[in-house]
Amino acid sequence: MSSNKNVFASKVGAILAAAGSAVGLGNVWRFPTETGANGGAAFILIYVLFMLVLGVPIMVTEFAIGRHGGKDVTHAFEKMSGGKRGWRWMGLVPVVSGFLVLSYYAVVAGWTLYYAYEALIGGFAGKTSEAFTNDFQTFSSDSLQPVFWMAIIIALTCGIVALGVQKGIERGAKIMMPLLFVFILVLVACSLSLPDAGKGLTFLFMPDFSKVTSSVILSAMGQAFFSLSVGLGCLCTYACYFRKDIDLMKDGLSVASIDTLVALLSGLIIFPAVYSISGLSPDAGPSLVFITLPNVFQQVFGNLPWLAYIFSLIFYLLLVMAALTSSISMLEMSAAYFHKNLRLSRPLAAIIVSVVCLILGTFCSWSFGDWSEVKVFGLNFFDLFDFLVAKLIMPIGGMLMCIFLGWVVDEKVLCAEMTNHGTIKSPLYPTYRFIIRYVAPLCIFLIFANELGLFNWS
Ligand code: ALA
Repeated sequence: MSSNKNVFASKVGAILAAAGSAVGLGNVWRFPTETGANGGAAFILIYVLFMLVLGVPIMVTEFAIGRHGGKDVTHAFEKMSGGKRGWRWMGLVPVVSGFLVLSYYAVVAGWTLYYAYEALIGGFAGKTSEAFTNDFQTFSSDSLQPVFWMAIIIALTCGIVALGVQKGIERGAKIMMPLLFVFILVLVACSLSLPDAGKGLTFLFMPDFSKVTSSVILSAMGQAFFSLSVGLGCLCTYACYFRKDIDLMKDGLSVASIDTLVALLSGLIIFPAVYSISGLSPDAGPSLVFITLPNVFQQVFGNLPWLAYIFSLIFYLLLVMAALTSSISMLEMSAAYFHKNLRLSRPLAAIIVSVVCLILGTFCSWSFGDWSEVKVFGLNFFDLFDFLVAKLIMPIGGMLMCIFLGWVVDEKVLCAEMTNHGTIKSPLYPTYRFIIRYVAPLCIFLIFANELGLFNWS
Protein backbone atom coordinates (compact mmCIF):
# COMPACT_ATOMS: atom_id res chain seq x y z
CA MET A 1 0.00 0.00 0.00
CA SER A 2 1.20 3.52 -0.75
CA SER A 3 0.55 6.36 1.70
CA ASN A 4 1.03 9.03 -1.00
CA LYS A 5 -2.54 10.01 -1.82
CA ASN A 6 -1.59 11.03 -5.37
CA VAL A 7 -0.61 7.45 -6.23
CA PHE A 8 -2.87 4.42 -6.63
CA ALA A 9 -2.59 2.62 -3.30
CA SER A 10 -2.39 -0.89 -4.74
CA LYS A 11 -1.37 -2.64 -7.95
CA VAL A 12 -4.85 -4.11 -8.28
CA GLY A 13 -6.36 -0.65 -7.90
CA ALA A 14 -4.09 0.69 -10.66
CA ILE A 15 -5.00 -2.14 -13.05
CA LEU A 16 -8.71 -1.80 -12.32
CA ALA A 17 -8.63 1.97 -12.79
CA ALA A 18 -6.81 1.62 -16.15
CA ALA A 19 -9.16 -1.22 -17.14
CA GLY A 20 -12.09 0.99 -16.12
CA SER A 21 -10.81 3.72 -18.40
CA ALA A 22 -10.60 1.24 -21.27
CA VAL A 23 -13.83 -0.67 -20.59
CA GLY A 24 -16.75 1.50 -21.53
CA LEU A 25 -19.45 2.13 -24.09
CA GLY A 26 -16.81 1.09 -26.62
CA ASN A 27 -17.07 -2.49 -25.35
CA VAL A 28 -20.75 -2.85 -24.62
CA TRP A 29 -22.19 -0.49 -27.24
CA ARG A 30 -19.63 0.10 -30.02
CA PHE A 31 -18.06 -3.40 -30.17
CA PRO A 32 -21.34 -5.27 -30.83
CA THR A 33 -22.38 -2.57 -33.29
CA GLU A 34 -19.09 -2.81 -35.20
CA THR A 35 -19.06 -6.61 -35.04
CA GLY A 36 -22.62 -6.71 -36.35
CA ALA A 37 -21.85 -4.28 -39.16
CA ASN A 38 -18.59 -6.00 -40.16
CA GLY A 39 -19.67 -9.61 -40.42
CA GLY A 40 -18.88 -11.13 -37.00
CA ALA A 41 -16.10 -13.57 -36.14
CA ALA A 42 -13.53 -12.59 -38.80
CA PHE A 43 -13.79 -8.97 -37.64
CA ILE A 44 -13.23 -10.09 -34.04
CA LEU A 45 -10.10 -12.04 -34.93
CA ILE A 46 -8.59 -9.06 -36.72
CA TYR A 47 -9.61 -6.78 -33.85
CA VAL A 48 -7.85 -9.02 -31.30
CA LEU A 49 -4.75 -9.06 -33.49
CA PHE A 50 -4.69 -5.26 -33.57
CA MET A 51 -5.18 -5.16 -29.81
CA LEU A 52 -2.01 -7.20 -29.43
CA VAL A 53 0.22 -5.65 -32.05
CA LEU A 54 -0.90 -2.02 -31.78
CA GLY A 55 -3.17 -1.46 -28.79
CA VAL A 56 -0.97 -2.98 -26.09
CA PRO A 57 2.29 -1.37 -27.27
CA ILE A 58 0.68 2.09 -27.46
CA MET A 59 -0.93 1.57 -24.07
CA VAL A 60 2.45 0.60 -22.58
CA THR A 61 3.95 3.69 -24.24
CA GLU A 62 1.39 5.88 -22.47
CA PHE A 63 2.08 4.07 -19.20
CA ALA A 64 5.84 4.61 -19.53
CA ILE A 65 5.51 8.34 -20.28
CA GLY A 66 3.02 8.95 -17.47
CA ARG A 67 4.80 7.00 -14.78
CA HIS A 68 8.23 8.40 -15.60
CA GLY A 69 6.93 11.96 -15.29
CA GLY A 70 4.80 11.38 -12.21
CA LYS A 71 3.34 14.84 -11.66
CA ASP A 72 1.01 15.37 -14.62
CA VAL A 73 1.04 14.70 -18.36
CA THR A 74 2.65 17.95 -19.45
CA HIS A 75 5.53 17.46 -17.01
CA ALA A 76 5.67 13.78 -17.99
CA PHE A 77 6.58 14.61 -21.59
CA GLU A 78 9.13 17.19 -20.47
CA LYS A 79 10.79 14.81 -18.03
CA MET A 80 10.82 11.86 -20.44
CA SER A 81 12.47 14.00 -23.12
CA GLY A 82 15.34 14.67 -20.73
CA GLY A 83 14.04 18.03 -19.49
CA LYS A 84 13.29 19.76 -22.82
CA ARG A 85 10.45 22.16 -22.03
CA GLY A 86 9.32 22.23 -25.66
CA TRP A 87 7.91 18.71 -25.33
CA ARG A 88 5.41 19.91 -22.76
CA TRP A 89 3.05 20.91 -25.57
CA MET A 90 2.44 17.23 -26.30
CA GLY A 91 0.99 16.89 -22.84
CA LEU A 92 -1.64 19.47 -23.78
CA VAL A 93 -3.21 16.95 -26.18
CA PRO A 94 -4.81 15.01 -23.28
CA VAL A 95 -5.96 18.26 -21.66
CA VAL A 96 -7.84 19.34 -24.78
CA SER A 97 -9.03 15.83 -25.68
CA GLY A 98 -10.44 15.43 -22.16
CA PHE A 99 -12.95 18.22 -22.85
CA LEU A 100 -13.82 17.04 -26.34
CA VAL A 101 -14.25 13.36 -25.60
CA LEU A 102 -16.24 13.78 -22.39
CA SER A 103 -18.59 16.30 -24.01
CA TYR A 104 -19.93 13.84 -26.58
CA TYR A 105 -19.35 10.62 -24.64
CA ALA A 106 -21.50 11.97 -21.80
CA VAL A 107 -24.41 12.41 -24.22
CA VAL A 108 -24.54 8.67 -24.95
CA ALA A 109 -23.76 7.89 -21.30
CA GLY A 110 -26.80 10.05 -20.40
CA TRP A 111 -28.96 7.98 -22.76
CA THR A 112 -27.85 4.82 -20.95
CA LEU A 113 -28.81 6.36 -17.61
CA TYR A 114 -32.23 7.31 -18.96
CA TYR A 115 -32.71 3.76 -20.26
CA ALA A 116 -31.66 2.37 -16.87
CA TYR A 117 -34.30 4.62 -15.27
CA GLU A 118 -36.93 3.52 -17.81
CA ALA A 119 -36.02 -0.10 -17.10
CA LEU A 120 -36.30 0.54 -13.35
CA ILE A 121 -39.80 2.02 -13.57
CA GLY A 122 -40.92 -0.80 -15.90
CA GLY A 123 -41.22 1.61 -18.84
CA PHE A 124 -40.43 -1.06 -21.47
CA ALA A 125 -43.29 -3.37 -20.57
CA GLY A 126 -45.74 -4.03 -23.39
CA LYS A 127 -44.08 -1.72 -25.92
CA THR A 128 -44.13 -2.55 -29.63
CA SER A 129 -41.06 -2.33 -31.91
CA GLU A 130 -42.43 0.87 -33.45
CA ALA A 131 -42.87 2.37 -30.00
CA PHE A 132 -39.21 1.60 -29.15
CA THR A 133 -38.05 3.34 -32.34
CA ASN A 134 -40.32 6.36 -31.88
CA ASP A 135 -39.53 6.75 -28.21
CA PHE A 136 -35.79 6.71 -28.81
CA GLN A 137 -36.08 9.29 -31.55
CA THR A 138 -38.37 11.51 -29.50
CA PHE A 139 -36.11 11.26 -26.45
CA SER A 140 -32.78 11.82 -28.19
CA SER A 141 -34.08 14.82 -30.17
CA ASP A 142 -35.62 16.54 -27.14
CA SER A 143 -33.90 19.77 -26.02
CA LEU A 144 -34.03 19.14 -22.29
CA GLN A 145 -34.40 15.48 -21.33
CA PRO A 146 -31.09 14.10 -22.70
CA VAL A 147 -29.28 17.16 -21.29
CA PHE A 148 -30.76 16.43 -17.87
CA TRP A 149 -29.52 12.81 -17.91
CA MET A 150 -26.15 13.87 -19.27
CA ALA A 151 -25.85 16.41 -16.45
CA ILE A 152 -26.37 13.63 -13.90
CA ILE A 153 -23.62 11.54 -15.50
CA ILE A 154 -21.24 14.53 -15.50
CA ALA A 155 -22.11 15.35 -11.88
CA LEU A 156 -21.42 11.74 -10.78
CA THR A 157 -18.15 11.75 -12.70
CA CYS A 158 -17.19 15.10 -11.19
CA GLY A 159 -17.98 13.87 -7.67
CA ILE A 160 -15.72 10.84 -8.05
CA VAL A 161 -12.84 12.83 -9.58
CA ALA A 162 -13.16 15.49 -6.88
CA LEU A 163 -12.66 12.83 -4.19
CA GLY A 164 -9.13 12.25 -5.45
CA VAL A 165 -6.94 9.47 -6.79
CA GLN A 166 -7.33 6.92 -4.00
CA LYS A 167 -10.69 7.80 -2.45
CA GLY A 168 -12.41 8.61 -5.76
CA ILE A 169 -10.89 7.05 -8.87
CA GLU A 170 -9.34 3.93 -7.29
CA ARG A 171 -12.21 3.20 -4.93
CA GLY A 172 -14.75 3.78 -7.73
CA ALA A 173 -12.91 1.31 -9.98
CA LYS A 174 -12.61 -1.26 -7.19
CA ILE A 175 -16.37 -1.15 -6.60
CA MET A 176 -17.64 -0.77 -10.17
CA MET A 177 -15.36 -3.15 -12.08
CA PRO A 178 -16.14 -6.33 -10.08
CA LEU A 179 -19.84 -5.40 -10.11
CA LEU A 180 -19.66 -4.93 -13.85
CA PHE A 181 -18.26 -8.46 -14.21
CA VAL A 182 -20.99 -9.94 -12.03
CA PHE A 183 -23.67 -8.18 -14.11
CA ILE A 184 -22.07 -9.35 -17.34
CA LEU A 185 -21.87 -12.98 -16.21
CA VAL A 186 -25.51 -13.00 -15.09
CA LEU A 187 -26.58 -11.59 -18.45
CA VAL A 188 -24.38 -14.00 -20.44
CA ALA A 189 -25.92 -16.96 -18.58
CA CYS A 190 -29.45 -15.68 -19.34
CA SER A 191 -28.66 -14.92 -22.94
CA LEU A 192 -27.05 -18.29 -23.65
CA SER A 193 -30.13 -20.09 -22.36
CA LEU A 194 -32.36 -18.47 -25.00
CA PRO A 195 -33.71 -20.44 -27.96
CA ASP A 196 -31.42 -20.26 -31.01
CA ALA A 197 -28.57 -18.86 -28.93
CA GLY A 198 -26.31 -21.13 -31.03
CA LYS A 199 -26.86 -18.90 -34.08
CA GLY A 200 -25.48 -15.95 -32.14
CA LEU A 201 -22.46 -18.03 -31.11
CA THR A 202 -21.81 -19.03 -34.71
CA PHE A 203 -21.94 -15.39 -35.74
CA LEU A 204 -19.45 -14.52 -33.01
CA PHE A 205 -17.03 -17.40 -33.25
CA MET A 206 -17.13 -18.96 -36.75
CA PRO A 207 -15.10 -16.69 -38.99
CA ASP A 208 -16.13 -16.20 -42.59
CA PHE A 209 -13.07 -14.64 -44.19
CA SER A 210 -14.91 -13.96 -47.42
CA LYS A 211 -16.46 -11.00 -45.55
CA VAL A 212 -13.09 -9.38 -44.85
CA THR A 213 -12.56 -6.20 -46.84
CA SER A 214 -10.17 -3.29 -46.33
CA SER A 215 -12.93 -1.42 -44.55
CA VAL A 216 -13.42 -4.34 -42.11
CA ILE A 217 -9.67 -4.28 -41.36
CA LEU A 218 -9.68 -0.54 -40.76
CA SER A 219 -12.79 -0.72 -38.60
CA ALA A 220 -11.15 -3.43 -36.49
CA MET A 221 -8.10 -1.20 -36.02
CA GLY A 222 -10.25 1.80 -35.11
CA GLN A 223 -12.25 -0.30 -32.63
CA ALA A 224 -9.05 -1.53 -30.95
CA PHE A 225 -7.97 2.10 -30.48
CA PHE A 226 -11.30 3.34 -29.21
CA SER A 227 -11.82 0.42 -26.90
CA LEU A 228 -8.44 0.75 -25.20
CA SER A 229 -8.65 4.59 -25.17
CA VAL A 230 -5.14 4.74 -26.61
CA GLY A 231 -3.76 7.92 -28.13
CA LEU A 232 -6.01 10.21 -26.07
CA GLY A 233 -3.85 10.43 -22.97
CA CYS A 234 -6.31 8.89 -20.45
CA LEU A 235 -3.90 6.07 -19.72
CA CYS A 236 -0.93 8.41 -19.61
CA THR A 237 -2.78 10.51 -17.02
CA TYR A 238 -3.54 7.47 -14.87
CA ALA A 239 0.03 6.20 -15.22
CA CYS A 240 1.22 9.41 -13.48
CA TYR A 241 -0.34 7.79 -10.38
CA PHE A 242 1.28 4.36 -10.89
CA ARG A 243 3.71 3.06 -8.29
CA LYS A 244 7.29 2.48 -9.33
CA ASP A 245 7.08 -1.31 -8.84
CA ILE A 246 4.34 -1.85 -11.44
CA ASP A 247 5.39 -4.04 -14.39
CA LEU A 248 4.13 -1.86 -17.24
CA MET A 249 4.20 -4.57 -19.90
CA LYS A 250 2.43 -7.15 -17.75
CA ASP A 251 -0.18 -4.67 -16.60
CA GLY A 252 -0.73 -3.42 -20.15
CA LEU A 253 -1.47 -7.00 -21.18
CA SER A 254 -3.79 -7.46 -18.19
CA VAL A 255 -5.76 -4.30 -19.02
CA ALA A 256 -6.05 -5.29 -22.70
CA SER A 257 -7.18 -8.81 -21.69
CA ILE A 258 -9.88 -7.44 -19.37
CA ASP A 259 -11.02 -5.03 -22.08
CA THR A 260 -11.20 -7.76 -24.74
CA LEU A 261 -12.95 -10.15 -22.38
CA VAL A 262 -15.63 -7.56 -21.59
CA ALA A 263 -16.14 -6.89 -25.30
CA LEU A 264 -16.49 -10.61 -26.09
CA LEU A 265 -18.84 -11.18 -23.17
CA SER A 266 -20.96 -8.25 -24.34
CA GLY A 267 -21.16 -9.98 -27.70
CA LEU A 268 -22.26 -13.13 -25.87
CA ILE A 269 -25.07 -11.16 -24.27
CA ILE A 270 -26.25 -9.33 -27.34
CA PHE A 271 -26.01 -11.68 -30.33
CA PRO A 272 -27.72 -14.76 -28.86
CA ALA A 273 -30.50 -12.39 -27.74
CA VAL A 274 -30.82 -10.79 -31.19
CA TYR A 275 -30.79 -14.18 -32.97
CA SER A 276 -33.44 -15.59 -30.66
CA ILE A 277 -36.05 -13.42 -32.38
CA SER A 278 -36.58 -14.28 -36.01
CA GLY A 279 -36.42 -11.36 -38.40
CA LEU A 280 -34.01 -9.25 -36.34
CA SER A 281 -30.60 -8.53 -37.72
CA PRO A 282 -27.30 -8.09 -35.85
CA ASP A 283 -26.27 -5.18 -38.09
CA ALA A 284 -28.81 -2.67 -36.78
CA GLY A 285 -26.02 -0.11 -36.20
CA PRO A 286 -25.72 2.27 -33.24
CA SER A 287 -29.42 1.89 -32.43
CA LEU A 288 -28.77 -1.79 -31.58
CA VAL A 289 -28.69 -1.23 -27.82
CA PHE A 290 -31.32 1.53 -27.63
CA ILE A 291 -33.96 0.22 -30.02
CA THR A 292 -33.30 -3.40 -30.99
CA LEU A 293 -32.26 -4.74 -27.59
CA PRO A 294 -35.01 -3.39 -25.32
CA ASN A 295 -37.41 -4.76 -27.92
CA VAL A 296 -35.60 -8.13 -27.86
CA PHE A 297 -35.72 -8.29 -24.06
CA GLN A 298 -39.49 -7.77 -24.09
CA GLN A 299 -40.09 -10.31 -26.82
CA VAL A 300 -37.83 -13.16 -25.69
CA PHE A 301 -38.98 -13.03 -22.11
CA GLY A 302 -42.58 -12.32 -23.14
CA ASN A 303 -43.96 -15.12 -20.93
CA LEU A 304 -41.86 -14.09 -17.96
CA PRO A 305 -42.21 -10.30 -17.62
CA TRP A 306 -40.23 -10.20 -14.38
CA LEU A 307 -37.24 -11.71 -16.22
CA ALA A 308 -37.54 -9.10 -18.98
CA TYR A 309 -37.61 -6.44 -16.24
CA ILE A 310 -34.50 -7.76 -14.46
CA PHE A 311 -32.58 -8.44 -17.68
CA SER A 312 -33.22 -4.92 -19.02
CA LEU A 313 -32.41 -3.25 -15.71
CA ILE A 314 -29.12 -5.11 -15.23
CA PHE A 315 -28.13 -4.52 -18.85
CA TYR A 316 -28.60 -0.74 -18.70
CA LEU A 317 -26.99 -0.48 -15.26
CA LEU A 318 -24.04 -2.33 -16.78
CA LEU A 319 -23.86 0.25 -19.56
CA VAL A 320 -24.05 3.11 -17.05
CA MET A 321 -21.18 1.71 -14.98
CA ALA A 322 -19.04 0.97 -18.02
CA ALA A 323 -19.62 4.55 -19.21
CA LEU A 324 -18.82 6.01 -15.78
CA THR A 325 -15.50 4.19 -15.34
CA SER A 326 -14.40 5.69 -18.68
CA SER A 327 -15.87 9.16 -18.20
CA ILE A 328 -13.96 9.45 -14.91
CA SER A 329 -10.66 9.04 -16.76
CA MET A 330 -11.77 11.58 -19.38
CA LEU A 331 -12.59 14.25 -16.80
CA GLU A 332 -9.42 13.48 -14.88
CA MET A 333 -7.27 14.24 -17.96
CA SER A 334 -8.22 17.91 -18.00
CA ALA A 335 -8.98 18.37 -14.29
CA ALA A 336 -5.55 17.03 -13.25
CA TYR A 337 -3.88 19.64 -15.45
CA PHE A 338 -5.78 22.56 -13.88
CA HIS A 339 -5.35 21.14 -10.41
CA LYS A 340 -1.59 20.69 -10.72
CA ASN A 341 -0.61 23.58 -12.96
CA LEU A 342 -3.00 26.34 -11.95
CA ARG A 343 -2.98 25.21 -8.31
CA LEU A 344 -6.77 25.03 -8.16
CA SER A 345 -8.16 22.63 -5.58
CA ARG A 346 -9.09 19.24 -7.08
CA PRO A 347 -12.87 19.75 -6.56
CA LEU A 348 -12.77 23.23 -8.13
CA ALA A 349 -10.75 21.97 -11.12
CA ALA A 350 -13.23 19.09 -11.57
CA ILE A 351 -16.22 21.45 -11.36
CA ILE A 352 -14.78 23.90 -13.92
CA VAL A 353 -14.07 21.11 -16.43
CA SER A 354 -17.52 19.61 -15.78
CA VAL A 355 -19.33 22.90 -16.43
CA VAL A 356 -17.48 23.42 -19.73
CA CYS A 357 -18.21 19.80 -20.75
CA LEU A 358 -21.86 20.25 -19.83
CA ILE A 359 -22.12 23.30 -22.11
CA LEU A 360 -20.29 21.60 -25.00
CA GLY A 361 -22.21 18.37 -24.34
CA THR A 362 -25.50 20.29 -24.60
CA PHE A 363 -24.51 21.42 -28.10
CA CYS A 364 -23.67 17.79 -28.95
CA SER A 365 -27.00 16.60 -27.58
CA TRP A 366 -28.93 19.21 -29.57
CA SER A 367 -27.26 17.82 -32.70
CA PHE A 368 -29.92 15.11 -32.55
CA GLY A 369 -32.73 17.66 -32.45
CA ASP A 370 -32.98 21.45 -32.78
CA TRP A 371 -29.37 21.92 -33.88
CA SER A 372 -29.19 19.06 -36.36
CA GLU A 373 -28.63 21.62 -39.12
CA VAL A 374 -26.00 23.63 -37.22
CA LYS A 375 -22.81 22.44 -38.87
CA VAL A 376 -19.10 23.12 -38.65
CA PHE A 377 -17.05 21.79 -41.57
CA GLY A 378 -20.21 20.01 -42.69
CA LEU A 379 -20.62 18.12 -39.39
CA ASN A 380 -23.00 18.68 -36.50
CA PHE A 381 -21.40 19.14 -33.07
CA PHE A 382 -21.70 15.49 -32.01
CA ASP A 383 -20.19 14.20 -35.25
CA LEU A 384 -17.55 16.93 -35.20
CA PHE A 385 -16.37 16.00 -31.71
CA ASP A 386 -16.44 12.30 -32.57
CA PHE A 387 -14.42 13.02 -35.72
CA LEU A 388 -11.89 15.14 -33.85
CA VAL A 389 -11.41 12.54 -31.12
CA ALA A 390 -11.68 9.19 -32.88
CA LYS A 391 -10.32 10.09 -36.28
CA LEU A 392 -7.79 12.83 -35.56
CA ILE A 393 -6.60 12.92 -31.96
CA MET A 394 -6.48 9.17 -31.27
CA PRO A 395 -4.45 8.18 -34.33
CA ILE A 396 -2.23 11.27 -34.32
CA GLY A 397 -1.78 11.18 -30.54
CA GLY A 398 -0.91 7.46 -30.65
CA MET A 399 1.50 7.95 -33.51
CA LEU A 400 3.25 10.92 -31.90
CA MET A 401 3.62 9.12 -28.59
CA CYS A 402 5.21 6.13 -30.34
CA ILE A 403 7.56 8.36 -32.33
CA PHE A 404 8.42 10.31 -29.19
CA LEU A 405 9.26 7.23 -27.16
CA GLY A 406 10.78 5.25 -30.04
CA TRP A 407 12.92 7.97 -31.60
CA VAL A 408 13.27 10.98 -29.29
CA VAL A 409 13.62 9.53 -25.80
CA ASP A 410 17.01 8.15 -24.75
CA GLU A 411 16.80 4.36 -25.08
CA LYS A 412 18.35 3.90 -21.63
CA VAL A 413 15.50 5.88 -20.06
CA LEU A 414 12.91 3.77 -21.87
CA CYS A 415 14.63 0.49 -20.99
CA ALA A 416 14.92 1.55 -17.33
CA GLU A 417 11.19 2.34 -17.25
CA MET A 418 10.23 -1.01 -18.81
CA THR A 419 12.48 -3.05 -16.50
CA ASN A 420 11.83 -0.94 -13.38
CA HIS A 421 15.49 0.04 -13.39
CA GLY A 422 16.72 -3.48 -13.98
CA THR A 423 14.76 -5.04 -11.13
CA ILE A 424 12.41 -7.04 -13.39
CA LYS A 425 12.88 -8.87 -16.68
CA SER A 426 11.02 -7.60 -19.72
CA PRO A 427 11.47 -10.29 -22.40
CA LEU A 428 9.06 -8.52 -24.76
CA TYR A 429 11.00 -5.24 -24.64
CA PRO A 430 12.89 -5.66 -27.97
CA THR A 431 9.65 -6.56 -29.80
CA TYR A 432 7.85 -3.69 -28.10
CA ARG A 433 10.55 -1.20 -29.13
CA PHE A 434 10.50 -2.43 -32.73
CA ILE A 435 6.72 -1.99 -32.83
CA ILE A 436 6.70 1.54 -31.47
CA ARG A 437 9.54 2.61 -33.76
CA TYR A 438 8.28 1.13 -37.03
CA VAL A 439 5.06 -0.90 -37.03
CA ALA A 440 2.75 1.35 -35.01
CA PRO A 441 3.59 4.68 -36.71
CA LEU A 442 3.19 3.09 -40.15
CA CYS A 443 -0.11 1.34 -39.35
CA ILE A 444 -1.53 4.44 -37.71
CA PHE A 445 -0.54 6.56 -40.66
CA LEU A 446 -2.45 4.13 -42.88
CA ILE A 447 -5.63 4.28 -40.74
CA PHE A 448 -5.38 8.02 -40.56
CA ALA A 449 -4.84 8.49 -44.29
CA ASN A 450 -7.69 6.14 -45.09
CA GLU A 451 -10.09 7.72 -42.59
CA LEU A 452 -9.40 11.12 -44.06
CA GLY A 453 -9.87 9.73 -47.54
CA LEU A 454 -6.29 10.55 -48.55
CA PHE A 455 -6.28 7.18 -50.29
CA ASN A 456 -8.71 4.32 -50.56
CA TRP A 457 -7.67 0.77 -50.01
CA SER A 458 -10.62 -0.97 -51.51
N1 ALA B 1 -12.33 3.13 -24.08
C1 ALA B 1 -13.53 3.82 -23.79
C2 ALA B 1 -14.69 3.01 -24.17
O1 ALA B 1 -14.50 1.91 -24.66
C3 ALA B 1 -13.53 5.16 -24.49
O2 ALA B 1 -15.78 3.42 -23.98
